[in-house]
Amino acid sequence: MLRPASAEDLAALVALARHPDVAATLSTRAADTLTAESAAVLAIEDRGRLVGGVCWALVNRRSRIAEVRTLMLDPAARGRGLAVATIRELAARLVHDHAIHRVEAEVYGFNGRAQRVFERAGFTREGLRRRAYDRAGGWQDGVRFGLLAEELIDNRRCNR
Ligand SMILES: CC(C)(COP(=O)(O)OP(=O)(O)OC[C@H]1O[C@@H](n2cnc3c(N)ncnc32)[C@H](O)[C@@H]1OP(=O)(O)O)[C@@H](O)C(=O)NCCC(=O)NCCS
Repeated sequence: MLRPASAEDLAALVALARHPDVAATLSTRAADTLTAESAAVLAIEDRGRLVGGVCWALVNRRSRIAEVRTLMLDPAARGRGLAVATIRELAARLVHDHAIHRVEAEVYGFNGRAQRVFERAGFTREGLRRRAYDRAGGWQDGVRFGLLAEELIDNRRCNR
């Protein structure tokens, strides 16, 4: 279940984003941007417990493009498909409730697990930003993902 993060959630999510395993896979500013006013932060809840978070931002108002950022789950909550369900639900909300036309995300090239999550959630791998980030002791690729509103509707029809 996804819900707006409360102040209490935010403190727990900042701590999760700073956990070394998680921090290594997020942008260097992720923990700080969680508390920035521009970020829409959602808490991921499972059986009444906070297990992670995800953010989104409107990156182009005229063309109605949103970007998904800072997807993270507590290590104990991983491997159960929660991340895929979260991205599917967030994309559906962005399209249906916020009239978003295109949802984007970027994942480090070394983060195969997160790439698989976006693929399983119906996103298309749209491109590779080669050696874009100075991270983890070397230059890392950024893998770009995109999902169009009409694809979300088509995917739903196919999955029925
Ligand atoms: C990314 C994250 C949210 C994914 O959640 P998760 O619960 O671990 O996801 P799952 O275990 O369900 O794995 C998702 C898929 O990746 C696959 N996978 C797991 N490890 C993998 C790897 N090293 N390489 C490629 N695919 C992998 C799984 O098999 C699964 O695919 P399947 O459903 O087809 O079997 C979680 O690992 C996390 O919080 N990581 C730290 C933060 C992070 O990396 N965020 C992403 C920033 S873009």
